[in-house]
Amino acid sequence: MSLEKVYDVPLEVAAGAHITEALYREMYERSIKDSDKFWSEQAERFVDWFKPWDKVQDCDFGTARIRWFEGGKLNVSYNCLDRHLAEKGDQVAIIWEGDDPDLDRTLTFRELHEQVCRFANVLKKHGVEKSDRVCIYLPMIPEAAVAMLACARIGAVHSIVFAGFSADALRDRILDADCRYVICADEGNRGGRTVPLKTNVDTALQSCPNVKTVIVVRNTGGTIDWDARSVWYHEELAEASPDCPPESMDAEDPLFILYTSGSTGKPKGVLHSTGGYLVYAAMTFQYVFDYRPGEIYWCTADVGWITGHSYTVYGPLCNGATTLMFEGIPTYPAPDRFWRVVEKHRVNIFYTAPTAIRALMAQGDNWLETTDRGSLRVLGSVGEPINPEAWEWYYHHVGRERCPIVDTWWQTETGGILITPLIGATRLKPGSATRPFFGIVPAIVDSQGNVLEGDCEGVLTITRSWPGQARSVFGSHQRFFETYFSAYPGKYFTGDGARRDADGYYWITGRVDDVLNVSGHRMGTAEIESALVLHDSVAEAAVVGYPHNIKGQGIYAYVTLVAGISPSAELEQELIQLVRKEIGPIATPDLIQWAPTLPKTRSGKIMRRILRKIAANEIRDLGDISTLADPGVVEEIIQNRANRS
Ligand code: WTA
Repeated sequence: MSLEKVYDVPLEVAAGAHITEALYREMYERSIKDSDKFWSEQAERFVDWFKPWDKVQDCDFGTARIRWFEGGKLNVSYNCLDRHLAEKGDQVAIIWEGDDPDLDRTLTFRELHEQVCRFANVLKKHGVEKSDRVCIYLPMIPEAAVAMLACARIGAVHSIVFAGFSADALRDRILDADCRYVICADEGNRGGRTVPLKTNVDTALQSCPNVKTVIVVRNTGGTIDWDARSVWYHEELAEASPDCPPESMDAEDPLFILYTSGSTGKPKGVLHSTGGYLVYAAMTFQYVFDYRPGEIYWCTADVGWITGHSYTVYGPLCNGATTLMFEGIPTYPAPDRFWRVVEKHRVNIFYTAPTAIRALMAQGDNWLETTDRGSLRVLGSVGEPINPEAWEWYYHHVGRERCPIVDTWWQTETGGILITPLIGATRLKPGSATRPFFGIVPAIVDSQGNVLEGDCEGVLTITRSWPGQARSVFGSHQRFFETYFSAYPGKYFTGDGARRDADGYYWITGRVDDVLNVSGHRMGTAEIESALVLHDSVAEAAVVGYPHNIKGQGIYAYVTLVAGISPSAELEQELIQLVRKEIGPIATPDLIQWAPTLPKTRSGKIMRRILRKIAANEIRDLGDISTLADPGVVEEIIQNRANRS
């Protein structure tokens, strides 16, 4: 990267911010040198405990043992609701903005508390007990937050499945976590279209005999099938008592499972804790977004992803903040929708993904000009690297050079933000997530695991634990260990590459494994390949990512058909439909190339490196192909490549 641009922290921003440069340095140093004391203070500051912990931390990356605040007792819903009632009972907790721009509603902390208590009693009535897993398959409506908090209130473990996943993907996740209860809506709304959520649940449950009850939120009022397992959310809620004392949970009791994709096998159920997770989500929310009482905060992420967990629901509510939930998409009914919502609700802090910024940037500035975004104070970015062009547009055009951008790097497994600017402390460089948050010690290593110093590029690892770190993979601690702690012993392997510049700033360069990041959504190439080979006509498939202007990465599938079958447009459509059925629309391949064979080593391993280069049109620079069993294959694949330019 040549000629980096640097944006200084404006004086007026630094003056009002919670964390200044001097304070960042002082707190960061303390967080490392006097870690137990530092984290004790933060845990006390951000969370109310029923009983203090015995030990601040007990972590060993050698065995993947991660424990924080053991012996401490707390309840997440108490922290997000009850403790705010005295002073903020009538303050809005959730602003909901519908897919339809004419629909919105608000819930105060008191109203949200009452609904959560009632719904927690509904769950109990149906037999949900502490540590039972509850699957939530809901669109972006307040009931999603109610369901999460109600589970937390009684100690049940929620497993949210993004409402864009298919019935088959839902089934796999219900089975893996052995969920006995499902909470869904009749339908979701997205961009003026409905999503058949209850129908998907019905399909999924054909293979889930253990599910006892399906609680259905009436959202669109569309026609759905009904059976003996189904009950209506609103009917149950009306009958339930609003009195439900919060369960006293151990800090290390699990709070939720969230499935995420890795380079191999099926998605993993990443398991997060109660105490450490909440401390970390609440603390990062406060410091990173510099939240001030009374402000309106909007994170556009769906609750089906980790960003929605930590920064739409738990982080904001634990701090008594007003959080906006948006059901729709950035371009419906028109590409000014985000800015209209900002104007309508006077949003102060806005947190979204680069893919949305790029998509809106491509629509031109006219869509900005008719809206008033003067309420905005802080802008955020998450989910994938933000290219400097998109950063500049966000900064100059959306924020009119008044709002610092926090480019926050983190992962499902990290629970909260690990690398980020702090608005009063950090000079910004477009495209860099900048510096580590308190307590975070990154190390960039080479392929042999040697730690690189100074200005360098390699694989990003983290050398010591932080409270928000995932505790395990549901059902397989061994898989947790192998995935994250075996590649570089003693370090947490992030799966990302990174460069560190001479100022100590981190630049995330993207995944180093076979995980794609498509529109900010994480996807395993192996999952898409498994879907493709289910088709009778497919002998073999290899999926790679390629650069895509809007999505960041597009999905490129090389498909080899069984002998005697000819490629056709019809077959291509069948394969696309198959992937949508197995995983969901987000995994739809952008390009399919028919490949008579795939390039393999003599031992039969597909050489993805070459396929990635061909997909990216980097055909002049294929590197060493001498280890291929049949180097001639490459020329043929190049001739037939799908995105010629
Ligand atoms: C990528 C989302 C660059 C990264 C919170 C990571 C980013 C993966 C950034 C995790 C960022 C996330 N800059 N890359 N600011 N934020 N990523 O689990 O590759 O859905 O490993 O968590 O997204 O995706 P996940």
